Amino acid sequence: MKICVLYDSVTGNTKMLADVIEKKYMGTLTDDPADADVVFLGSWTDKGSFSEKMKEQAEKIHGKKVFIFGTCGFGGSEEYYGKLFERAAGLLDESDEIIGHYYCQGKMPMSVKERYVAMLREHPEDKRMQVSLQNFEEALTHPDQKDLERLSEILDELKLA
Ligand SMILES: Cc1cc2nc3c(=O)[nH]c(=O)nc-3n(C[C@H](O)[C@H](O)[C@H](O)COP(=O)(O)O)c2cc1C
Repeated sequence: MKICVLYDSVTGNTKMLADVIEKKYMGTLTDDPADADVVFLGSWTDKGSFSEKMKEQAEKIHGKKVFIFGTCGFGGSEEYYGKLFERAAGLLDESDEIIGHYYCQGKMPMSVKERYVAMLREHPEDKRMQVSLQNFEEALTHPDQKDLERLSEILDELKLA
């Protein structure tokens, strides 16, 4: 069983998940997806989908077992995570078999908070902005230990190694 982990992480959140996966399958890892039985595809969320880089990677995977993972700024909603997974899954073709998926929240850059605060200064009553600011604060601690443990449990359930 050979495993390839391909991911894109700009600020390190998605890398934290990739590190859990790589540690779990140490000794079976390959850098070449063509050489792998299972490909783990991970991305940060860019405008509701995989990053451009990972979209390209995903479209090149054929005939593999695939596990999709990622982080996103908007957290706490299984429905949103489900949507992100469905979009990523849509990048694969029918020759691929999806064996699992995992999403969790990931902290966002301070510039995002600054934008929210500036907008709230203009429109203090803006409910959507208030919720966004609250979500920003909640995201700051993620991925946390619990997020990483949950991923580890899901990997164990796959019984790959
Ligand atoms: C340009 C940009 C666009 C983003 N778009 C979304 C989005 O549509 N939905 C979301 O939940 N998070 C979005 N985020 C937040 C990131 O996906 C999130 O912080 C992620 O954990 C970053 O992962 P990384 O540290 O691996 O790069 C965006 C961040 C940036 C910088």
